[in-house]
Amino acid sequence: MTDRPIYLDHQATTPLDPRVLDAMMPFLTDQFGNPGSAHAYGQAASRAVSAARRHVAHLIGAKNPIEIVFTSGATEANHLAIVGGSLAARPHGGHVVTTTIEHKAVLAACQFLVDHHGYTCTRVDVDSHGSVRPDDVIAALKPDTVLVSVMHANNEIGTIQRIEAIAEVVHHRRILMHTDAAQSAGYSLIDTSGLDADFVSLSAHKLYGPKGIGALFVRGRTRLTALQTGGGQERGLRAGTLNVPAIVGFGAAAALITTDAVTPNGEIRALRDRLAQRLCNAIPGATVNGHPRRRLPGNLSITLPAIEAADLLDHMPTLAASTGSACNTGSAEPSHVLTAIGLSRAAARRTLRLGLGRTTTGSDIDLALKMIVGAAAHPLMACTPVGGIDQFR
Ligand SMILES: Cc1ncc(COP(=O)(O)O)c(C=O)c1O
Repeated sequence: MTDRPIYLDHQATTPLDPRVLDAMMPFLTDQFGNPGSAHAYGQAASRAVSAARRHVAHLIGAKNPIEIVFTSGATEANHLAIVGGSLAARPHGGHVVTTTIEHKAVLAACQFLVDHHGYTCTRVDVDSHGSVRPDDVIAALKPDTVLVSVMHANNEIGTIQRIEAIAEVVHHRRILMHTDAAQSAGYSLIDTSGLDADFVSLSAHKLYGPKGIGALFVRGRTRLTALQTGGGQERGLRAGTLNVPAIVGFGAAAALITTDAVTPNGEIRALRDRLAQRLCNAIPGATVNGHPRRRLPGNLSITLPAIEAADLLDHMPTLAASTGSACNTGSAEPSHVLTAIGLSRAAARRTLRLGLGRTTTGSDIDLALKMIVGAAAHPLMACTPVGGIDQFR
């Protein structure tokens, strides 16, 4: 492993846990049945899917496994909740509310409603920590609002929202509440009964499971218009032959979390804090973004003085990290999340996202620190300093 780059990009994706791969293997080989088939092969696959559904339900405290609808990932889950939920509620109105720091999958789903179904959409601002104020959500509600979508934890700056406080007001007005929990579920930070959301989006590859599989929690009898129809799978809410190996992997990854068979959050948080502290000490003027306490244990978003993050990363091929969000990679536009919390476009471009995870070690952190501080001190790295960022946000 030592000759491989240090991986500090766990918000983009997580490595597959070897125990998850072990669980998946039989379903990639001799257990190949279609869970819709009545014979022995099909029934074996169907039992495996049911077990996985129970594990995922248990991970998020869902009362009934039937409330879990498997999708291809959180992108699809977000679209199903936002577009499908809003279309089902069309008789009650045509307005949706979201925030300025959502993942692009959520923003695009809301925009789809606007462009193709004549809805209107309000994007609520956040404060400088990236927190959504419940009062601002209340102020955005209209008599025809049918759905509110606020992410649980942000993928760039790690801030965790008080979904339960927002859901309380939203439900009081008989409006649907959706939350994108792709980033927080792996830390076991989700409890659907506590959060009180009607829809919760999940993604397996953010929690050491395979890519291309996710789920939407749909509470009880909440109405939803299917966006993909066909063979009637997933209670008719998401047609298509189930991806059994991936679903089994998702279930196995969820079960590892609920049985405490993974690195405790506190250990990841302690390494993250050590890295943050040492970077701030070594690079005067560096500032940490996001909420100081209500944040993902493994996330560190740090704005550096006078250094473009992309140049810095180019200089450190042995460190795998990110500038802002992976979804923005390849785009010259600064992150919409960083500008939403008040960073200038220049400061956003000087921001590095370091995502620690279960396999991150103390020596990874020490090496990463050495690399970043060394690269930042390189004379070619210096660009014109921009004033006004030398405060903690
Ligand atoms: C908050 C959030 N929502 C949604 C997604 C998309 O998830 P998926 O890759 O499963 O479609 C991501 C992944 O980048 C994410 O971080």
